Amino acid sequence: MNGSRARIAPSILSADFARLSDEIARCESGGADLIHIDVMDGCFVPNLTFGTKVIETVRRVTDLPLDVHLMVVQPEKYFDDFARAGASGLTIHVEAAPHLHRQLYRIKELGCQAGAALNPATPLETVGEVAGDLDLLLVMTVNPGYGGQSFIGTMIDKIRRAKAMLEAARSSAALEVDGGIARDTIASCWIAGADTFVAGNAVFSAHDPVSEIGELRGRCGVSV
Ligand code: DX5
Ligand code: ZN
Repeated sequence: MNGSRARIAPSILSADFARLSDEIARCESGGADLIHIDVMDGCFVPNLTFGTKVIETVRRVTDLPLDVHLMVVQPEKYFDDFARAGASGLTIHVEAAPHLHRQLYRIKELGCQAGAALNPATPLETVGEVAGDLDLLLVMTVNPGYGGQSFIGTMIDKIRRAKAMLEAARSSAALEVDGGIARDTIASCWIAGADTFVAGNAVFSAHDPVSEIGELRGRCGVSV
């Protein structure tokens, strides 16, 4: 099991955009560790979301780190703008990153944490050669594109293998999971080795989003 504290990253994809700053304030009061921002281009994934303007807006209303998940083709086109807008980390999909090593180092050059994401069907081996270069490894636990999907249970074994791969590379990268993370799925991910948990629907559709963040962290056996 992971020794560190579980980090909760609410995904604003499921927030009420008419009251975005209130939603982020609720995440802060609940003890969120990061704010997860899902950028989708309608090409890498079928859905279309937001870009620089929203990152800038969120940056203005919180001091929490902004964990930006790029579900886009040619992600490098956005690195400079997103870094300037206030992203703390940029996570790119290996399926859309043929020059992954160069792209990760460009993200670092811009002062951001460099992350690589894997779709459920993408083998872990695709990041094996850069495991020691990562600041974050994101194992998707749904097929990306939408909030509110069901957790894919077979990803637990992949999380376990991802943790072992990072340890073998002596990497201190965060191991993040994203998709269908809720009260009934988070503990098994934590036990498998994940330490950073994206939660959209589970937080923002909760009766009380503020206390839900602590509820989720509490399922990892860590007091809030
Ligand atoms: C899905 C996104 C997720 C999404 C998760 O493609 O990457 O970050 O917001 O939503 P939930 O937690 O509702 O599955
Ligand atoms: Zn995401």
